[in-house]
Amino acid sequence: MLQAEQSVLRKYYYPVMPVTDLNEGPKPITMFGEPVVVWLDEQGKPAAAIDRCCHRTAKLSLGATRNGCIVCPYHGWTFNRDGKCTFFPQSELEDPPKVYKIKAYRCEEKYGYVWIALDEPLAGIPDFSRYGDPEIRQIHQFHETIRCSALRLMENSFDTAHIAFVHHNTFGNNQDPVPPEFRIVPNELGFEMFYEVRVTNKLNKDVKAINVDSDETVRSVRAAWFMPFVRQLDMTYPTGLVHSIVTCATPIDNESCILIQFVFRNDTEADVPAATIIAFDRAVVDEDMLILESTEANIPLDLKLRLETHMHADKPGIVMREMLLKLFDEHGEKEVLPRLRTPQLYKTEVLERA
Ligand code: FES
Ligand code: CO
Repeated sequence: MLQAEQSVLRKYYYPVMPVTDLNEGPKPITMFGEPVVVWLDEQGKPAAAIDRCCHRTAKLSLGATRNGCIVCPYHGWTFNRDGKCTFFPQSELEDPPKVYKIKAYRCEEKYGYVWIALDEPLAGIPDFSRYGDPEIRQIHQFHETIRCSALRLMENSFDTAHIAFVHHNTFGNNQDPVPPEFRIVPNELGFEMFYEVRVTNKLNKDVKAINVDSDETVRSVRAAWFMPFVRQLDMTYPTGLVHSIVTCATPIDNESCILIQFVFRNDTEADVPAATIIAFDRAVVDEDMLILESTEANIPLDLKLRLETHMHADKPGIVMREMLLKLFDEHGEKEVLPRLRTPQLYKTEVLERA
């Protein structure tokens, strides 16, 4: 799959930045290869449109905002959040012609982030459990560009077999490589996965205060996949501590995405400072990214192509592939594959010995 070429994927909301990033003015981003400008409207709500003026194609994100509209830096044409040109400084006498308009996108704020859907959305912004609970605090963790595809990040988030290897310096145990049993329950938005996993405390003494109440403990996990590229990993420890991570991958192009991560916790700043929690998850995410950025971005969804091999613990990633193929099929779309120059090289058949 070439993630930026699958047009049905544009029909979902994706987070792109913390809304506070817009306080300094309009910001450019790229989603699915499309240049997008994001700014705050008159009510302080985020708005988004194509980052290309309909006049001479200048980047609107180089301009400023006035009365909640985006003003082109080249000749001052001014567009509202619906993409309509509301002011045209070259003529004070006439209203701007109707053809002076730019493509505007659905754009909303939720959980403190700007969410954008490039086309008519098939689903709302996901509802995360824990949100809104007065006992729960929300901590912003990461907003950065990563050089891997969104589905690689998603399947990794549900891959229990990598913990013992990739995370053996933080919470995994490479002497304990057999992944736990798990249960996957599909729903109309994706699926939920349930399991319990033993974790250890390797990082440093502070980790005890964060995620692990002894050198070894058990996480009870309810992991939710929201198609296509959002997951909530809700972890509860025997102490009652909840560490519930939301990880979102917003495709920039075929090889990279915007990573947004935040966490819900049922403790307080006095119990564990936010900076300590962020530092722990930073170490974990860095371990994942080192490996993920080494993988090929263009995941073949169609298992019949046999471009990858699989094992039991890959089930969540396989269900993702199947559900995405079904989504494409329902929208009359085919999987777009990269052109493999030497397809035979990628085949995973084992040669029979004579
Ligand atoms: Fe935008 Fe001329 S290019 S107003
Ligand atoms: Co990991």
